[in-house]
Amino acid sequence: MSAVSSGGYTLIGKIPEGPPIRTHHRKTVAWKPDRALLCAVMALGLGVSLAGCHSKPELTPQQAAGKHLYEVRCAHCHEDNDLNLKKVPPNLHGLFSQSTLPSGAPATDAQVRAVILAGKGMMPSFNGRFTDQQMSALLAYLHTGLR
Ligand code: HEC
Repeated sequence: MSAVSSGGYTLIGKIPEGPPIRTHHRKTVAWKPDRALLCAVMALGLGVSLAGCHSKPELTPQQAAGKHLYEVRCAHCHEDNDLNLKKVPPNLHGLFSQSTLPSGAPATDAQVRAVILAGKGMMPSFNGRFTDQQMSALLAYLHTGLR
């Protein structure tokens, strides 16, 4: 038995008695980096695909323009409620993923434009504040669900 196994170890490496364990051990150790490497490569691949899932795809220039408008005009209320409004401005994330707006009105572009232009409750009217192009950009950004 031991003769056979030392024979085996002799094939791999060196001295048959005693050292075979070390040889074997070394072989195990030598194998680990390979696995580690394999794992690293897999994790890398996985990381990339996870990043693909989690990180948000790039915004188009129009969406990015809308994001900027949202951040300077809407977020202080809708994200921070910095005026401490009693009626907390609703979260606009995923606005268009529901069929209705927080008020129950249909979640359509036309309706959201109308709210932005006319204001609602404590929300001011933005009539005349945005060009058509800016309004479209804002809507495009709202459609991303606010990335
Ligand atoms: C001064 C704070 C304030 C600002 C600034 C503000 N909002 Fe609002 N917004 C509110 C409040 C409060 C409500 C809830 C109104 C209500 O239902 O009485 C609201 C509601 C809404 C709604 C939901 C309407 C509905 O029918 O449920 C949308 C959409 C919206 N805001 C978009 C925006 C966008 C886009 C901007 C930036 C251009 C913006 N708001 C800026 C306070 C604000």
